[in-house]
Amino acid sequence: MWRRVPCLRPQQFAVQRAWKSTRRSTRPPKSSLFESTPAPFLPRPPTPVFHLSEPRIPTHVRIGTCLVAFAAGFSIYFFLDDPEIVGPPPKPPVLSPNQFAVTKLNSAEASGPSTKLVKIASPPHLLPLNNSSDASIWSVFIKDDDIQVERAYTPLHGVDSNGDMLFWIKKYPKGEVGRWIHSKNPGDKIEIRGPIKTWPWKDGVWDEVVMISGGTGITPFAQLFNNLILKSPSATNTRFTLIHSSRVPGELPPAVILEPMVAFASGNPDKFKLHVFVDEVDASKPPVSIENINMGRIQEAGLKRCLKGPEEPSKAWWRKSPVQRPQQSNKPRILFLVCGPEPMIDAIAGPYGRNFSQGPVGGILGKMGYTSDEVYKL
Ligand SMILES: Cc1cc2nc3c(=O)[nH]c(=O)nc-3n(C[C@H](O)[C@H](O)[C@H](O)COP(=O)(O)OP(=O)(O)OC[C@H]3O[C@@H](n4cnc5c(N)ncnc54)[C@H](O)[C@@H]3O)c2cc1C
Ligand SMILES: NC(=O)c1ccc[n+]([C@@H]2O[C@H](COP(=O)([O-])OP(=O)(O)OC[C@H]3O[C@@H](n4cnc5c(N)ncnc54)[C@H](OP(=O)(O)O)[C@@H]3O)[C@@H](O)[C@H]2O)c1
Repeated sequence: MWRRVPCLRPQQFAVQRAWKSTRRSTRPPKSSLFESTPAPFLPRPPTPVFHLSEPRIPTHVRIGTCLVAFAAGFSIYFFLDDPEIVGPPPKPPVLSPNQFAVTKLNSAEASGPSTKLVKIASPPHLLPLNNSSDASIWSVFIKDDDIQVERAYTPLHGVDSNGDMLFWIKKYPKGEVGRWIHSKNPGDKIEIRGPIKTWPWKDGVWDEVVMISGGTGITPFAQLFNNLILKSPSATNTRFTLIHSSRVPGELPPAVILEPMVAFASGNPDKFKLHVFVDEVDASKPPVSIENINMGRIQEAGLKRCLKGPEEPSKAWWRKSPVQRPQQSNKPRILFLVCGPEPMIDAIAGPYGRNFSQGPVGGILGKMGYTSDEVYKL
């Protein structure tokens, strides 16, 4: 019973000692109750002698004190087991959106002039996330320990069967966290928190989802591709199109991202279409062989070319005048997801609103007549 003593606050400890001493004084010693051999002779404590100068404590005060001490000890004994009072035992650090968990970098491999594929071990209890049917896009925050700054990064496959998360991470000449992650080596400590849902997947809501990305902006779409489109293509009737742009062929996403996309698109053209753009061709080579690489940025003409007929505004008469648009039409329910550098988001879907709220739809998609329930800026 008394092993709980270390948990006590000093005041409680004092009360418990009082209770202990009361118990000792009112019960015979344990040995005499349970041992068959006679208790060893204990010298009788000297009888207290009260001098006339010392005030004698009246009996009723002594009894009162004993009762109070008894009641206090009794309550401590019974209520210490209550976890609401003592609190649950401390848990090992776990991955949570609210606090950082310490884990480590498993590997880092260059994947272009300023990008790396970085593998980070994840606390094992995150594993069920991949087994769940929720294909929502999520990311984790990685903390730059040197200056205590965090940035979001998107694991390409969620958590793999080894409990690792693979990221494609770019560093910028004056960027803080990207450069810090690039400086890390296998075995180095990394602090992460998450998962943070960045876009909720809902089955049965859209006939067509069009993903438009620039540079590392492809990472959330790679996650959706790996966790939903590739993993269980028959789980949804939604068709997907990915339109991606990078500066030059050598800056295109690495093979681990593009290869399964290229293969799946050629085998399942009704389910998934892939269109790749580069601003210009230089001496660099693309990481995988791609049949048709479009030249130039993603602009209105290029975007229209990538979309199928019924979604093209020229063919969809109701887009010309929202007032005449029928309430119940057979038009495909379409959603555009846009992710990339801010100038690209501005040009394609209009700028974010205040505090990174969605803001109104502008840019090319706004001009094409798409509305805020058809466009989402990641
Ligand atoms: C939900 C979410 C998920 C993300 N997932 C990923 C991911 O998987 N992989 C990934 O690499 N990034 C990802 N990012 C971006 C990432 O969070 C950081 O914003 C990025 O790494 C830059 O951070 P930094 O600290 O290195 O640079 P910062 O310190 O934020 O930037 C400093 C300077 O770098 C330069 N800079 C920053 N961004 C750009 C740019 N786009 N173009 C040119 N210059 C720039 C600017 O000059 C800026 O002043 C994600 C962002 C979000 C919101
Ligand atoms: N929210 C998320 O979930 C998330 C996830 C990952 C990444 N991100 C963001 O994505 C961005 C990726 O940046 P990056 O450095 O990898 O990209 P980048 O290499 O600088 O650019 C990628 C492509 O975007 C094009 N682009 C830029 N401005 C454009 C415009 N106005 N119109 C059309 N195309 C334009 C670029 O063309 P030019 O070379 O001609 O400019 C290039 O082809 C970062 O800002 C990152 O924060 C966000």
